[in-house]
Amino acid sequence: MDKIVIQGARRLKGEVEISGAKNATLPIMAAALLTDEVSRIEGVPRLRDVQTMIRLLRVLGAKVDFSNGALEIKPSRTLKTVAPYHLVSTMRASFCVLGPLLARLGRADISLPGGCVIGARPIDLHLKGLASLGASITIEHGFVKARANRGLKGEDIYLGGKFGSSVLATANVLMAATLAKGVTYIENAACEPELVDLADFLVKMGAKIQGQGSHLIEIRGVQKLHGAKHRVITDRIEAGTFMVAGAMQKSNDITIRNCNPEHNHALLDKLQEAGIRVRRTKSTVRISRHGKLEPVDVTTLPYPGFPTDLQAQLMALASVTPGISVITEKIYPDRFMHVSELNRMGANIFLEGSSAIVHGKSRLSGAPVMASDLRASAALVLAGLAAEDKTEVHRVYHLDRGYENIEEKLLKLGADIKRERE
Ligand code: EPZ
Repeated sequence: MDKIVIQGARRLKGEVEISGAKNATLPIMAAALLTDEVSRIEGVPRLRDVQTMIRLLRVLGAKVDFSNGALEIKPSRTLKTVAPYHLVSTMRASFCVLGPLLARLGRADISLPGGCVIGARPIDLHLKGLASLGASITIEHGFVKARANRGLKGEDIYLGGKFGSSVLATANVLMAATLAKGVTYIENAACEPELVDLADFLVKMGAKIQGQGSHLIEIRGVQKLHGAKHRVITDRIEAGTFMVAGAMQKSNDITIRNCNPEHNHALLDKLQEAGIRVRRTKSTVRISRHGKLEPVDVTTLPYPGFPTDLQAQLMALASVTPGISVITEKIYPDRFMHVSELNRMGANIFLEGSSAIVHGKSRLSGAPVMASDLRASAALVLAGLAAEDKTEVHRVYHLDRGYENIEEKLLKLGADIKRERE
């Protein structure tokens, strides 16, 4: 296993290029199963989660080629319909093959995704939505078994859960509905940009979809979809992580290229409130920090609210912002594994229910820390960049699930960072 070693308190300056969005790529790869024709997906990041999805598509009977950032996917006419435990359990997004397999082949046996370190992650909304389209669903021996022998039928579906809309449940139902008979309405649909990108890809495949990006999506079922070519959007969470990196220390000045500032509105607003200078064009954001920062209060919410996937990174920033910041997690109330690790670096954070009360300081001190999940790992790297002396982030395989070449990108910005074998 690798670790990342950082000598902190180096000024960051220069430009960084953002990669394609992981959370757009994964459901789009699943959507390619809705046809037996070839699809080409460009701008794909080289990440562990993408490799896992490639393995799953191959197990299901698709030919997949991945070179120069482009995926070519050619599903066979008679796909296999069983998604095994050893793949689905390592990555929840693989549960997204359920909708396409059910819609195209009338059956799917998908392993339950299982527990997750960021808290409970139920699948009731996925199942509710697909059952509304006429699938019969049972759970047996750790597998979701879905059947639709006579095909799926369009329906008016309310897809809201305890914590609001669900990104991947909306994706699963949206994909299934493209081949259902009649019209489907998804109410309380998720509006995340990655879902809009999925819908755009489906439209290129011949699907009839309206309302993507709003809470009401209309899907008119068609008999067949065809292969399509698509370039995925850039990764707003990676972009947001670099925006926070730029804010972590006085006199940092970095330009984030190949991003869509619109997708990071909530974060940029908070950074400006904290006192960061933000200059944006259509596809770049320049972040510079001069004076002192002010603490900020943040609550995570579905898009366009502040994303849960940037909560840990913002907490790293709050830890080095003198004053009290309150960070409330409304999507995954237990997503706070980074708190104890940030405290090891000298932060002063305590939890009160689903809120973290952060007593910010002017400096953290480097320490050995343990990454627990993808975004927590990113937060520890950010903390290490701003801390005095050496920080070692262990178990960095989490980071490789979602950040393409993160050390190279940070090195180019002037960080003192390297990867070592444990
Ligand atoms: C997606 O997960 C992302 N994953 C997550 O990214 C992200 O944190 C999350 O959306 C929220 O934005 C991918 O896109 C691959 P949800 P998803 O269903 O779709 C509850 C990362 O670091 N819920 O929108 O699985 C759920 O418990 C990650 O890249 C139900 O109650 O999340 C949560 O409270 C990790 N029943 C809320 O909805 C369900 O059936 C939103 O979760 C499904 C979800």
